[in-house]
Amino acid sequence: MKDHREQVQEHERVQRQEQEKEQERERERQPGQKYLVLTYGCQMNEHDSEVMAGILEEMGYRPAKRREEADVILVNTCCVRETAENKIYGLLGEFRRLKMNRPGLLIGVGGCLTQQEAAAKKIRDRFPYVDLIFGTHNLPRLRELIEQAKESRRTVVELLDRSEPAPEGLPIRRASGVKAWVVITFGCNNFCTYCIVPYVRGRECSRPPENILAEIRDLAAQGYKEVTLLGQNVNSYGRDLPGNVDFAGLLTEVNQIKGIERIRYTTSHPRDFSPRLIEAIARGEKICEHVHLPVQAGSNRVLRMMNRGYTREDYLALVEKIREAIPGAALTTDIMVGFPGETDEDFAQTLDLVERVRFDSAFMFIYNIRPGTPAARLPNQVKDEVKRARIKTLIEKQNQITKEININEEGKIYRLLVDGESKTNPRMLSGRTRTNKLVIFPGPPELVGKFVDVRITRGKLTHLEGISE
Ligand code: SAH
Ligand code: SF4
Ligand code: F3S
Repeated sequence: MKDHREQVQEHERVQRQEQEKEQERERERQPGQKYLVLTYGCQMNEHDSEVMAGILEEMGYRPAKRREEADVILVNTCCVRETAENKIYGLLGEFRRLKMNRPGLLIGVGGCLTQQEAAAKKIRDRFPYVDLIFGTHNLPRLRELIEQAKESRRTVVELLDRSEPAPEGLPIRRASGVKAWVVITFGCNNFCTYCIVPYVRGRECSRPPENILAEIRDLAAQGYKEVTLLGQNVNSYGRDLPGNVDFAGLLTEVNQIKGIERIRYTTSHPRDFSPRLIEAIARGEKICEHVHLPVQAGSNRVLRMMNRGYTREDYLALVEKIREAIPGAALTTDIMVGFPGETDEDFAQTLDLVERVRFDSAFMFIYNIRPGTPAARLPNQVKDEVKRARIKTLIEKQNQITKEININEEGKIYRLLVDGESKTNPRMLSGRTRTNKLVIFPGPPELVGKFVDVRITRGKLTHLEGISE
């Protein structure tokens, strides 16, 4: 039986949904200019795109469904790997025709790729029809920049080095009404030798806890059920703030916010995962049993060259402690093959670590050179065919493990937070377990935003299938 408070909340939620639908229909009817934001890269970029959308909506634009109907297109770029970069150049090439058919179209390119001056210059030279180029620190000025670009016949370029303190109070148009990203730290101080992120995102900068908590309270009041705290290394949250502020303390406070039922966080750096943090995660009943813990490599020699600050032994011991303190915790990771100087023996150590840990899943990458990073200057870059052979072996091994783990879920019952309709099948819904497994199951769209118990009927490589209990 639902108690009165739940019934009132339910009623308010349905009313709000109706209102939103009506507003959407109203916007459809109104003439006016439309926007599209295309996003590449990590969750940080996904969230920045929500801010870009928020700013555009405040300027009176409304969302376009297709590129062809957009009056403003912003591309939010990533440059963490060459493949990400090339996709963006390909996309900008496609815009040539779009711009010819719709000369009033305003094209803006922002994010991590354009934060680098050389890339910004390349875009201006190769794609002169781009109207605006901005970086990762320009969001507070985006409105003015768009207005300036509308007036100007030349490409408007503005790249700030850094914005301090971190921007607060920008409008956000969130992609979901159920779960929300909340940034806790901007930038990164780790300088892993392969990585471009510290150069394009700047130094680590924590948001004051009171601002984060106020944002989450506001989300709870709007009916959000889940938050994901975001930072390149959430574990070092608060180091740059006065007082005894740390990530364990922040999590404990978020755990007390009424209305928020699930708390996630990403990314955790293994070096900074303290016993105090493990304890806070184990104690917080809303903090989900999933840790994304990028290992990158299984060989101590390579880890040292990467400047990761831990050994394979440290990592394995940490995994053990996490599993002991948080029963049933899912572990996921990022792994790279082909770091300069990686030998067959080093790679064998990575495979060995993967077998020992048995990650629930992993993002696996081929190392590639990021100009300007220390690893780019290392001798002994690994040959392409060796990298390709290694990634193939690694993916096969990890996929086998993921499949075994997922098959083992069959018959178990999990509570899901339903987050939407399945992208591939309209009569199916999608939801996540606390361990962050994607489950597809049949059900009516009214269940979106609710918690549902589902029995797992099939474990697959990419997701689980289930039926509601
Ligand atoms: N801050 C996070 C994620 C950063 S980028 C962390 O520390 O884990 C996401 C992933 O991209 C990294 O974990 C790494 O596996 C991969 N990556 C970063 N630079 C790369 C490069 N030059 N080549 C290939 N993969 C890279
Ligand atoms: Fe890059 Fe390392 Fe920072 Fe992650 S922790 S963003 S991999 S430098
Ligand atoms: Fe890419 Fe920037 Fe994220 S480089 S991975 S979008 S921080």
